[in-house]
Amino acid sequence: MCGIVGYIGPAKASQILIDGLKRLEYRGYDSAGVAVHTPAGFAVAKKTGRVANLEREAARHVLTGTCGIGHTRWATHGGVTDANAHPHVSSDGQIALIHNGVIENFSAIKRFVTGKGYTFQSETDTEVLANLIAYHYAKEPAPAADAEPSRLLESVRKSLLHVEGTYGIVVMSRDHPGELVSARRGSPLILGIGRGENLIASDVSAIVGRTQNVVYLKDGELARVTADAFAITSLTQGDDVVPVISQVNWSIADSALGDFAHYMEKEIFEQPQALENAMRGRFSEDGSTAQFGGLNVTPNELRQVDRLLFTACGTAWHACLVTEYLVERFARVPAEVDYASEFRYRNTPLDPNSLLFVLSQSGETIDTLAALREAKRRGYRGLAITNVVGSTIAREADGGIYQHVGPEIGVASTKAFTSQLLLGAMVALYLGRMRDMSYADGKAYVAALKAAPDLVRRTLTQAEHIRGIAQRYAGYNDMLFLGRLALFPIALEGALKLKEISYIHAEGYPAAEMKHGPIALVSERCPSVFFVTKGELFPKVVSSMQEIKARKGPIIAVCTEGLELPPGLADEVIPIPDCHEAVLPIVATIPIQLLAYYIAVARHCDVDKPRNLAKSVTVE
Ligand code: F6R
Repeated sequence: MCGIVGYIGPAKASQILIDGLKRLEYRGYDSAGVAVHTPAGFAVAKKTGRVANLEREAARHVLTGTCGIGHTRWATHGGVTDANAHPHVSSDGQIALIHNGVIENFSAIKRFVTGKGYTFQSETDTEVLANLIAYHYAKEPAPAADAEPSRLLESVRKSLLHVEGTYGIVVMSRDHPGELVSARRGSPLILGIGRGENLIASDVSAIVGRTQNVVYLKDGELARVTADAFAITSLTQGDDVVPVISQVNWSIADSALGDFAHYMEKEIFEQPQALENAMRGRFSEDGSTAQFGGLNVTPNELRQVDRLLFTACGTAWHACLVTEYLVERFARVPAEVDYASEFRYRNTPLDPNSLLFVLSQSGETIDTLAALREAKRRGYRGLAITNVVGSTIAREADGGIYQHVGPEIGVASTKAFTSQLLLGAMVALYLGRMRDMSYADGKAYVAALKAAPDLVRRTLTQAEHIRGIAQRYAGYNDMLFLGRLALFPIALEGALKLKEISYIHAEGYPAAEMKHGPIALVSERCPSVFFVTKGELFPKVVSSMQEIKARKGPIIAVCTEGLELPPGLADEVIPIPDCHEAVLPIVATIPIQLLAYYIAVARHCDVDKPRNLAKSVTVE
């Protein structure tokens, strides 16, 4: 969750760190801080709140060094205070440290280092680690100049052997201004390899402004980084690791806000292009099925699969639910969905022909990663649909599909979700065409998917109309979202989007379930958003709407064009294009994203940084 950045090179570190933190702020915004080497020791500036607060605070300090570390915090241990903000410096002033993760045995370590005379100024688990490294550093014999491994590296290694929990850390020592040491277990870290300068960060977005060349650290690896070199070793064995340098395909322009007020707005309006990017090159030449380059499962093996499991968290879990529906409907393969946080502990029986898919925009969500690892530990194949190239899930999965929608910065997921829906629909098509789906049905399905970007573009033209509705409904404190079949997960997504960015209590249900409890909430103060489409369930959904209306509940109907609703039934209608079942969930998502966005704006909420949330949940 926290954002991490380190810099070593010829330039003034503090500005590079603060710029990096601005791009990492979506990872946590409880507090931010930087520490740099100066001739007088570490200079540290830290402040609760946004990076802008830190920037003001930093102006009051002399932060002249060319080697430093910076951090944005999402609080776990200890409240949101200046003292708990990172970096943390050991009580002897020797070690400065930033950390993402949770040190589970921090109490035992704290007792140990307190017994050795180290003291504490914060309530964090991180300060415990700073003092532990300082303790080992003090005991470590000073090596000959330029000796490898370094004293700092060895004291970090010795300390981490005693740590239980997760960490991505970057460490500096007061006496060695020319090096940074970094290590990871469970929290992402990337080295950015520049010319005469190097960086370390939790995400590529903090690095791409200075270099496109990166090395993804793996769990259990330790890196020593100087301005013009870096070396990676294994934490436990101490063996050298041969680094693999990759090129990042995102540029700094991809994460620019442009003329939009918020990243969420930008990312909503980017969806036509994002969908085009996600489908590009992924249809067969005859236009009757999908094709994927990196699944690493042969068609023959896929034909043996008799059960699919989809697992993810949050919005990505909603994409799993839609995919489950489409896979069963079009490929006729039994499918199940589980929350990754449950799957990892549930000991679900799996049979040899089960195949697991995990979905994760960031590729770093700790529960989703753990679910993947659990399935793999038990000998099953795990594939991933993920957006971030080189992320931990992308690297650990047996194969998968990249979303290719560029960086998603708004904390509330939008374009990543609709591209997951698209790729889920393509998986259903691919499996369906290997089984019973006819050539003609395959062609119609492909044509429908190819039309999706234009249909989304058309739906986005409703933005002004939806903004007007949002202004009328921004004062309500409860809202229901009701849909059926593949639109039930879109109802869940509508409720999640609304509550996370506008703090309105919202719930999503299958429309017919409403009678079994949620209808008790209905009154003139609790509006309902219905998804209404043609087909055999149309009259059933209309009946559900009438039941709400009879109880004076206001109704917003997201309704396919050409459908006639009984007069006066809906208070507001948002038309969406009528389309193929595989595309409808994508198109139906657009109005609920816009509704949530405009309601949050009308309520003056911080859309891109909702309270208590952070992008990419890397702690359990
Ligand atoms: C909600 C949202 C979250 C994420 C969830 C999983 O708008 O963004 O619910 O979907 O934390 O994140 P990823 O997809 O990165 O695994």
